[in-house]
Amino acid sequence: MHVRKVCVLGGTGFVGSHLVGQLIASGRDVTVLTRRIQRHRDLLVFPGVRLVEADVHDPKVLKQHFHGMDAVINLVGILNEKGHDGRGFRRAHVDLARSVLEACKATGVTRLLHMSALHADAGSGPSHYLRSKGEAENHLHTFGAPVAITSFRPSVIFGPGDSFINRFASLVRMTPGIFPLTCPGARFAPVYVGDVVEAFLNALEDRDSFGKRYDLCGPHVYTLKQIVQYTARVSGHRRLIVGLSDGISKLVAVLSEYVLPGKFFSLDNYHSLKVDSVCSNGPRCPTSLEAIVPGYLGNADRNARYQVLREQAGR
Ligand SMILES: NC(=O)c1ccc[n+]([C@@H]2O[C@H](COP(=O)([O-])OP(=O)(O)OC[C@H]3O[C@@H](n4cnc5c(N)ncnc54)[C@H](OP(=O)(O)O)[C@@H]3O)[C@@H](O)[C@H]2O)c1
Repeated sequence: MHVRKVCVLGGTGFVGSHLVGQLIASGRDVTVLTRRIQRHRDLLVFPGVRLVEADVHDPKVLKQHFHGMDAVINLVGILNEKGHDGRGFRRAHVDLARSVLEACKATGVTRLLHMSALHADAGSGPSHYLRSKGEAENHLHTFGAPVAITSFRPSVIFGPGDSFINRFASLVRMTPGIFPLTCPGARFAPVYVGDVVEAFLNALEDRDSFGKRYDLCGPHVYTLKQIVQYTARVSGHRRLIVGLSDGISKLVAVLSEYVLPGKFFSLDNYHSLKVDSVCSNGPRCPTSLEAIVPGYLGNADRNARYQVLREQAGR
């Protein structure tokens, strides 16, 4: 299988911008569908990328843009929904995955890479996020033929432009002295975005990956408290990180969900953290937090993202 023309959904996000850069560098024609082109013009720094405004939830629109593609990559995902009943998650994860698959079939696209999440599970996932990710994956891998599908199930992903390490870095910066932390004992095996991108690129034309689902974990496991302590240290802030009990963490989630503005830590996030985001077995991606984070911490603003994209594009 030779893949030259690729259409990417969710290509404007954190993982997407890294992946698009590498797809372009590997000589492929890349079309990125976005809901709001104006917000993502910085992606045009990659020579040859086509950035197209499109309603990805409209099956007709998908078919229109999938015509002539060799492969489609779906990276769309949300961590929070506007409502509280899971409908937003189902729309972004399950309904969209179904439409993408149908559009692939209708237009003769035979290769689909799908981004899921570690421990996505339609039946026993503890949150709408993990259940809807699992349902999407199951649908694709059950009804995929004749499209060759590969799914990726990463733990939390870090790298320049991430919203995990950078978010904690800004929260730590804004909170003098003592930093109260919800769910401090939740465990993660953070995986570097460069390793995730490599997994996608390696799979694209690899027949052995057809029909497979890959868990992606970094080399080490940390508690959330260890990650935040490390983030504070690397960003030069002396803070006492105080872990909140499970009951108080849940109360914070309820307040954030229903009372406070911005849903900074939703009940669904709280439920997702009930399952450790670590791999049980299999190979690990090689790059550690310690090798990468000191190089980018603090570079979370749009200007910095543009600089990162420029470097990737060799400009
Ligand atoms: N980052 C992590 O730690 C992590 C860990 C495990 C799994 N994942 C999965 O990896 C994928 C990429 O993550 P990311 O961190 O790169 O996410 P991101 O930065 O939030 O980017 C996601 C992209 O999806 C599009 N999108 C968001 N909500 C949408 C909606 N309701 N309908 C249609 N499009 C929507 C957006 O594109 P436009 O605004 O241009 O339309 C956005 O750029 C997601 O599926 C996520 O669940 C991420």
